[in-house]
Amino acid sequence: MDEFSGRVAVITGGASGIGLGLAEKCAAEGMTLVLADIEEAALAQASAGLRDAGATVSTQVCDVSQASHLESLADHAYSTHGGVHFVANNAGVVARHEPWGPIEDWEWVLGVDLWGVIYGVNTFVPRMLEAGEPGHIMNTASTAGLLAFPGIASYNVAKRGVVALSETMHHELAGTPLSVSVLCPGLVATKIGASERNRPGSTEVDPTTEGVLMPEVSEVLTPTEVADIVFDAIRNDVFWILPHEHYGHQALEQAQRRLTGGTPVMPHIDRGTS
Ligand SMILES: NC(=O)c1ccc[n+]([C@@H]2O[C@H](COP(=O)([O-])OP(=O)(O)OC[C@H]3O[C@@H](n4cnc5c(N)ncnc54)[C@H](O)[C@@H]3O)[C@@H](O)[C@H]2O)c1
Repeated sequence: MDEFSGRVAVITGGASGIGLGLAEKCAAEGMTLVLADIEEAALAQASAGLRDAGATVSTQVCDVSQASHLESLADHAYSTHGGVHFVANNAGVVARHEPWGPIEDWEWVLGVDLWGVIYGVNTFVPRMLEAGEPGHIMNTASTAGLLAFPGIASYNVAKRGVVALSETMHHELAGTPLSVSVLCPGLVATKIGASERNRPGSTEVDPTTEGVLMPEVSEVLTPTEVADIVFDAIRNDVFWILPHEHYGHQALEQAQRRLTGGTPVMPHIDRGTS
């Protein structure tokens, strides 16, 4: 996909972080926006900012772990805007827990991070194929989709699932007007560290004002930087979007260890030298 102006973008988790960065980039490219998020107030704030900047935006409160919510989102996008050309299956949460539990953590994280993407693909791709127009699906995984970080087993499993799904889609969309990419960032300055605010039944409130809960290490990118990288990748037909190259090298090391009988790579963030 290399024409964006006048096309329609649907972004889940569009009220914050990487999703909002993508929304701003889509708007700058002249796209019409459909923003979906579980956080109604953040959605209203994000869409107001985008409208002030001149974008055409509609919003839908949506829990991506519910298939029916994705169906409603697609119905809304097609009936309001007449088509969909770019889908970012991006909403995500993380929970810290041991691999052996609690099971509620597993269900929540897999529900949002894996089922949310599966439902997004299941809902939008058949409609986009039927429309027959050029289009792109970008699934947000993580470096955790390539390497396993201790402490976040459910996230690692969900994100590796998103990578596998995206790879499969790449093969099966060959010869159609649709393409797919998978975004595998390292640290990005967002509210992901405050994911608990979005757990069903949670009474936690957003503890941040600007929303950045990240260690001060050199690898941290802004959502704007990531969105620029994503659009460059889509324009150049790049499937693997790795904004942090050093994880690509670690993944390569992992592949070599598989051949030589080594142990799994312990992923390491780039803390910089200064
Ligand atoms: N920030 C990072 O360092 C980083 C690194 C790799 C991958 N990611 C991935 O990027 C994606 C975006 O996260 P972010 O970092 O921008 O965090 P964020 O918390 O700033 O944004 C996530 C958005 O998803 C929404 N959301 C949460 N649960 C939802 C649900 N059930 N249904 C719909 N929306 C829901 C949140 O309200 C929020 O607006 C996630 O998939 C995350 O796993 C983030």
